[in-house]
Amino acid sequence: MRMVDIIEKKRDGLELSADEIATMIAGYCQDEIPDYQMAAMLMAVYFRGMTDQEIAALTLAMARSGKMVDLSGVSGVKVDKHSTGGVADTTTLVLAPLVAAAGVPVAKMSGRGLGFTGGTIDKLESIPGFRTGLSSEEFIANLKRYNIAVTAQTPDITPADGKMYALRDVTGTVDSIPLIASSIMSKKIAAGADKIVLDVKAGSGAFMKNVGEAVKLAEAMVNIGKLVGRETIAVITSMAEPLGVSVGNSLEVEEALDILSGTVESEDLRHVCLALGSYMLVAANKAVDIKTAQAKLSELLLNGQALDKFKELVAAQGGNPGIVTRKSRLLKAAMVSVKTAESGYVIAVDTAAIGYSAMILGAGREYKGQKIDLGAGLVMKCRIGDYIRQGDVVAELYTNNSARIKEAADKVIQAVQLGGKAVVKPKLILGIVNANGVELY
Ligand code: URA
Repeated sequence: MRMVDIIEKKRDGLELSADEIATMIAGYCQDEIPDYQMAAMLMAVYFRGMTDQEIAALTLAMARSGKMVDLSGVSGVKVDKHSTGGVADTTTLVLAPLVAAAGVPVAKMSGRGLGFTGGTIDKLESIPGFRTGLSSEEFIANLKRYNIAVTAQTPDITPADGKMYALRDVTGTVDSIPLIASSIMSKKIAAGADKIVLDVKAGSGAFMKNVGEAVKLAEAMVNIGKLVGRETIAVITSMAEPLGVSVGNSLEVEEALDILSGTVESEDLRHVCLALGSYMLVAANKAVDIKTAQAKLSELLLNGQALDKFKELVAAQGGNPGIVTRKSRLLKAAMVSVKTAESGYVIAVDTAAIGYSAMILGAGREYKGQKIDLGAGLVMKCRIGDYIRQGDVVAELYTNNSARIKEAADKVIQAVQLGGKAVVKPKLILGIVNANGVELY
């Protein structure tokens, strides 16, 4: 089987067999297939697409390209959650301890931030001493003992995805639904969960800019789950504006702690966490329906058990659990307020631009491997639907790099669009995609 024949087949719009896909992925990982041939294949997939069977075969071949985590020794239904990425998307920091406190084992392998999106691993590293590089043995031992473990994904998990993602990044083939779906699902399958809850974001701060595109991506991933025997549910959520108010690593940990402590400023973030958590509880057979699950999770926030679980997670992974009660132990950079020169209703937010502003301040990476400032970022002081007056603070910027404040401040001001008429606040939960189909709200 020659790679050029497989490329030509896809170029001509024909369906590849599971064998052809497996041979291609194995050959690419062993450096028998060069980047230029894989780049041609990725572009052919970009234009021709893939059938559900092809996407499932690609996902499995990528998952099997490296280590497959075996969680069978951990009792209970293991439910993983994954977000397609957004701005102020602090859900994992709240959800992981909350759902673990409800009795669901949470085995989370997470990534780092890149571009306008943040990553859970960077956020956790803003907690002094917190170890994000657990060995497989530690990961499973912590999971058994505390019901929760969060670690950085290691290069031996889905190496095919690591290589292909780097190539997609430089060949204009990132935003292809078959390629995004297989990339995400291969990592989830290799990480060993029994069931998967996906948070598929739609809006100005997400890969998918509208609900239609987000539904297509969600359907592709739910179908993969169906074909490979891992039940998958996708919740479509809004990224029309930053989900929480804080963008940046230690700032987001603080916001998560506020929600876990019941001192809620970020109602939207709390709402999305409760929705995603409820689907996780039902998937794990810990609640009979979404309403019961939601009531159980709200109770765990109120009675302090979710916060205690966060404390336990921090201590178990070498961090200082004192940050839970004394947030001032987290790093924070110098603060500058950005004020608006106009008055009006906030009618839209360019959410990706807000993410980029936080990146400019030092909170995120322009390129892979770049060192970041864990105390940097910004806190939004307005939301869509609010009326703001000339001189009001739109956002607080935190940075140790004063040379870039003006650039970041200008970006924030441009990102917040004002108008003369009030608009309705965007809905947060936009729909559900599961094995039974699509339900939009
Ligand atoms: N996240 C991933 O893991 N892969 C993609 O291709 C896009 C987002």
